[in-house]
Amino acid sequence: MHVAVIGTGYVGLVTGACLAHLGHHVICVDNNPAKVEGLQRGRLPIYEPGLEELVREGSASGLLQFTTHLQTGIQSSQVVFIAVGTPALPSGDPDLRYVEAVAREIGQHLDEQYRVIVNKSTVPIGSGDWVRMLILDGAAEAAKQRFSSSEEGKGETLLGDPETATGQGGVFTLDESRWMPHFDVVSNPEFLREGSAIHDTFHPDRIVVGSDSPRAIQIMQQLYEPILSRQGGLAGDPVPWVVTDLASAEMIKYAANAFLATKISFINEIANICERTGADVTQVADGIGLDKRIGRSFLNAGLGWGGSCFPKDVAALIQTAADYGYEARLLRATVEVNQEQRQRLVEKLQQALKVLKGKTIGLLGLTFKPNTDDMRDAPSLSLIEHLRKLGAKVKAYDPVVSGSGIREGLAHVVVETDALRLAQDCDALVLVTEWQEFQTLDYGRLASLMRRPLLIDARNCLDRQALRQAGMTVLGVGW
Ligand code: NAD
Ligand code: UGA
Repeated sequence: MHVAVIGTGYVGLVTGACLAHLGHHVICVDNNPAKVEGLQRGRLPIYEPGLEELVREGSASGLLQFTTHLQTGIQSSQVVFIAVGTPALPSGDPDLRYVEAVAREIGQHLDEQYRVIVNKSTVPIGSGDWVRMLILDGAAEAAKQRFSSSEEGKGETLLGDPETATGQGGVFTLDESRWMPHFDVVSNPEFLREGSAIHDTFHPDRIVVGSDSPRAIQIMQQLYEPILSRQGGLAGDPVPWVVTDLASAEMIKYAANAFLATKISFINEIANICERTGADVTQVADGIGLDKRIGRSFLNAGLGWGGSCFPKDVAALIQTAADYGYEARLLRATVEVNQEQRQRLVEKLQQALKVLKGKTIGLLGLTFKPNTDDMRDAPSLSLIEHLRKLGAKVKAYDPVVSGSGIREGLAHVVVETDALRLAQDCDALVLVTEWQEFQTLDYGRLASLMRRPLLIDARNCLDRQALRQAGMTVLGVGW
């Protein structure tokens, strides 16, 4: 199948590379020329384990191509994915300007061939219909321009009004060319996690498609068939294929992220109660997680959730509810608990070190989670802000960020190249991101380099006993 993916970020690039691996012809479109040029040379704009190999493989086979030219992408494809960003606005609403621009542009380049336009970006409920309208608007504008500028068009009759055209097949027709955009918009929310994006794409818990068009649904099923039936070396039982209406598919995405974020805030709240009562939240999570109705995943207490999606998607759902006159109290509390979790960590440092002014705090890890270079809404950033406000000096070491050019939000942070340099003269270390390499650090050596051998394991991921034996004073979250 011929596929275009618009937007080569974490979602678009992974989707494109994985579909090419499954044998589809994929053309990835991005309006950032530097990104596209890099990809054409095999240079990735993001860090995602396994992605470089997949991109190399796709490029070598010719199944994966990159361009800035949207028209080429659209006109050579039967399925067009929209995978551009939808970051949060200060109001909490998602910023839909990238989706809007792409939808209009798609409309401008549609020809007579039938196409499925797939919303993979996370967009508010109702966006499927909105995207459809924008595509029709774009198509109408382009046709109007073609009609008014074409020498041949001078003799043509415009049937219907491009401004008011609605619905498939209801679009105006140029008498001579019989041009008519012929497409369906489907919602196909993405559930991949950064750091394990390729595994998640090939082994999803389900694939959700929201549409009322049997033709579009059939094409989507054909596209995903290798994953659904675990062909091409993919192991496991068949993947559930979930077909819904458009609005429900859009809501499934928000509800899934909101639930997971709530689950984390729940365990963080339990952690805060554990600290006061003498229980240990890790043992509690293990104990309740064995209940199949609860499950152990997303019950790791710590600094709370960050990243490019949970914060913006929970905010967007709260905002959507408000738009419809409903106050999402549980979701508001989820956000509050999450924000306070970072403040609590600073309070822990204050309790241990008293005055933070003039103290040096070293952060182990900066990214919002391990195995990614993504710093969007990383808990480290708010921690840095809190600490700097209190007059502390902040140093940091991150396995990926330290060696990269990423310095956004880190202007006042000393970014060290390894953990030993980080520990030098620190009054405390805080493990912020549970990178695998932090499991095997020589903590005895780190302790000897520090001004005070205090370590706060803000992800509860290290062996406390071993750390104590190495001479560290250890604190955590929820015990
Ligand atoms: P991203 O910011 O990493 O990438 C977006 C890309 O779109 C950028 O490369 C940008 O240059 C490109 N772009 C913007 N406007 C364009 C245009 N007019 N034409 C062509 N390209 C354009 O975003 P992301 O993290 O991949 O997220 C994309 C969407 O997927 C968002 O809605 C997000 O909520 C959703 N999502 C993300 C994840 C994730 O883990 N990152 C997971 C599930 C869903
Ligand atoms: C999340 C969802 O897990 C994906 O299903 C979804 O597709 C994606 O958002 C999205 O919509 O973009 P991601 O943000 O990549 O994926 O990472 P997660 O593994 O979900 O972690 C999110 C945050 O929660 C991280 O800051 C992580 O440290 C934190 N977390 C996670 C906890 O604090 N405790 C946990 O038990 C699990």
